[in-house]
Amino acid sequence: MNGPLMPANSAPYASFEERQVSIARVAKWIPRDVVVVDPLLAEVPLLDAEVADLQRLAIGFITHSLGISAETDPAEVLVRLDGQPFQAARKAHQWLIPLERSICGMLRAMQVDRSALALEYPINVRVVHGTPFPDYDKRIYPTTSVHTDIWAGEPADTLQALIPLMGNVQENFCQWYEADRERFDICLSNSADYRSANEKLGDVRAISHTFDIGKLYFFDGALPHQTIKIGKGIRISLDFRLRRLFPYADPNWMQRMRRDKGAYDRYYLLPPHPYPFKTFAEKLDHEIEVLEALGFSAFAGLRREEYDDV
Ligand SMILES: [Fe+2]
Repeated sequence: MNGPLMPANSAPYASFEERQVSIARVAKWIPRDVVVVDPLLAEVPLLDAEVADLQRLAIGFITHSLGISAETDPAEVLVRLDGQPFQAARKAHQWLIPLERSICGMLRAMQVDRSALALEYPINVRVVHGTPFPDYDKRIYPTTSVHTDIWAGEPADTLQALIPLMGNVQENFCQWYEADRERFDICLSNSADYRSANEKLGDVRAISHTFDIGKLYFFDGALPHQTIKIGKGIRISLDFRLRRLFPYADPNWMQRMRRDKGAYDRYYLLPPHPYPFKTFAEKLDHEIEVLEALGFSAFAGLRREEYDDV
């Protein structure tokens, strides 16, 4: 990569005017009391049953990784997680398909399939510590620095989703910042690290909002954000990205998916409804079948290679 900032891919979805209505377009189909907090940020209330199901699945994933019973009291799980980095165990992956099923049911109820073509797999189960570990800020992409995920190589057409599920969300939360016209190209660039892009971004205005358990926050990939940690304890949340564009359309897809930090291989076509998969292998077979039917056999072959070890 030459220099700290490079134009990102997916340029057709990159104009400032286009992005100013991107969240309104998603929000208008959602049959709930959506609060459009900013042109690039919307807050959607979740149903109690949806939250309970997501909490159960996230706790199942975490307890499996920790090697303790899935029935463990969630408060006890939070205590166990405190003070040590969380490492997801490979065997816990059996929770990820049911988790995607639950998310897809919710997205379908919100008619998000009218706005997005692809979904990241797996859904990310985040264990966020209120006290950063030593040297965390020295990473090239620390989430505690103001950033857009596009800087770290995510596609520029992404719609991001964040769901706080439990724990200390008052002192361990996401802060969003306005992406004004003047800074828009910077927000949509790829960068070798967060710090140099952040210096170019300069002072940005914080968006005033609440950060609550049981809400889903949709935000445009161009919106700068940052994890704020002002207290101790653990926050558990889910996050995932959707893509508005066909994920295999990028002619550089093959090359990008092989880059160390390239995230392209994580995007799959939005699963059919009702959600048909019981295992990741079934999901992969379906993806390959669709790609072959659409004439994207080269990509189908790469998908097969990429997950040879499944
Ligand atoms: Fe981020």
